[in-house]
Amino acid sequence: MRKKITVVGAGNVGATTAQRIVDKRLADVVLIDILEGIQQGKGLDLLESGPVESYDCNIIGTNDYKDTANSDMVVITAGLARKPGMSRDDLLKTNFGIVKGVTEQVAKYSPQAMLIVVSNPLDAMVQTAFKVSGFPKNRVMGMAGILDSARMAAFIALELKVSVENISCFVLGGHGDTMVPLPRYSTVSGVPITELLPKEKIDAIVKRTQGGGAEIVSLLKSGSAYYAPSAAVVEMIEAIFYDKKKILPCAALLEGEYGINGLYVGVPVKLGANGVEEILQIKLTPEEDAALKKSAAAVKELVGIIGV
Ligand code: LAC
Repeated sequence: MRKKITVVGAGNVGATTAQRIVDKRLADVVLIDILEGIQQGKGLDLLESGPVESYDCNIIGTNDYKDTANSDMVVITAGLARKPGMSRDDLLKTNFGIVKGVTEQVAKYSPQAMLIVVSNPLDAMVQTAFKVSGFPKNRVMGMAGILDSARMAAFIALELKVSVENISCFVLGGHGDTMVPLPRYSTVSGVPITELLPKEKIDAIVKRTQGGGAEIVSLLKSGSAYYAPSAAVVEMIEAIFYDKKKILPCAALLEGEYGINGLYVGVPVKLGANGVEEILQIKLTPEEDAALKKSAAAVKELVGIIGV
């Protein structure tokens, strides 16, 4: 039997995620939103693409959480997106209410599901989903590090004129302005970029990565990025459905790892059939460690405001 994935939120991130899921024939999709008709329309449009693209996945759009029952996976993209000049943190209170309500419904109808949260501010929203769902920590995770690492990799590929396939990047910390791109662990065919690029170029790439989301928001004027975010979500889904044991940067609950306790922060994890199967602890320099702690403190402040 095909797997079932619910995508909450039929905006650009949710709809593009649904499209990527069926294009890869990963699961049937339920696209749910509070809108009138948009999710039904997009769902039907995707269903009607099946005969051309040769996928048999079923896709429906709905307003009713009953239709989401027994999903294997739920991707939460619901919430407001940033407008130019807004930080992800400006969305905190509104999106907290939305993600809380969504998680209650999802947990009720799909008590065995894995949850991948995409809504911003990311780390605080994953923490919300974790607390509200009562699910074990291996089944609740956030998408951000893959996106941030992909942005960094794209900028390195442009700079060095090499294939993106040769590049592996590492970004830790919260998905905010304090995120921590790690040049020492970012490599081209195994060679750290610190050996390949001068410091000024690396600093510029780090800065552009940290502002990568805002760069797109300022270009789009309304709404935020969705092609790369949805691609990143689907990489997580594939790692889990195919039990790949893939090491990917994701927001995961830390319980003492990296000296951080009871907080969702972006770290390298092993993703497999059981979700977050392991948190990898890599060695950090004192400077990198301080940057990670600073980023975690920024997440903690937000989590404190909403009390989760
Ligand atoms: C970004 C938003 C999705 O980084 O957080 O583009």
